[in-house]
Amino acid sequence: MEHVKKISDGIWIVDGDEVPWYGMPYTTRASIVRLDNGDLWIHSPGKIYPELRNEVDALGVVKFLVSPNKIHHLFLSDWKECYPNAILYASPGLREKRTDISFDENLEDFPPQHWEKEIDQMIFRGSTAMQEVVFFHKSSRTLILTDLIENFHPDHFTGFRKLLAKATGIVSPNGKTPLDWRMSFIFGKKQARLCLERMISWHPSNVIISHGECVFDGADQFLRKSFGWIKKA
Ligand SMILES: [Fe+2]
Repeated sequence: MEHVKKISDGIWIVDGDEVPWYGMPYTTRASIVRLDNGDLWIHSPGKIYPELRNEVDALGVVKFLVSPNKIHHLFLSDWKECYPNAILYASPGLREKRTDISFDENLEDFPPQHWEKEIDQMIFRGSTAMQEVVFFHKSSRTLILTDLIENFHPDHFTGFRKLLAKATGIVSPNGKTPLDWRMSFIFGKKQARLCLERMISWHPSNVIISHGECVFDGADQFLRKSFGWIKKA
């Protein structure tokens, strides 16, 4: 497999192309979980192309397409076109934003029956700007985050973008929620703290991060450090 990389039994990532985000080159990452019945659950799917499609099809049957927050939606329609029988899940606020897409279900605070045996989930609350749905793949103890922590390699950006990335707090190993989003939690830190505690109670070993470097050891410590900003009153 050239495009799909195995993380552990039943879970893979796909590193996608860079997409521009307010002038910053953002690398993207999708995650794939294979449920016990062979169905595939695709988190934040990126660009799809024939070679990737062949690799995905070799893993199982694409059944669930999951958009974890309302700014991760660019390639959902392409995937739905390729896999018309897949069930499309909307994150909070996305139905209103993408009225052109016909979503089948909403992501809620607890997993639907389809994947509750293999994956837990919750809505990370507290922001007035955006809520992200976070997931936990139980058998590999892997937390799957999208923008809640961005963790780019220190050499990923150059010049003023490097300074900007550092200033907004998205550089490894100190990656965190980007500054502008953090500011929208001003009245919701207590709610965010409860969400963090629930995430930590899952006891993740690994953290898949959509933008930047994943964490394969010491997830608990990494999460507490990264979310240190919500401890401040
Ligand atoms: Fe993102």
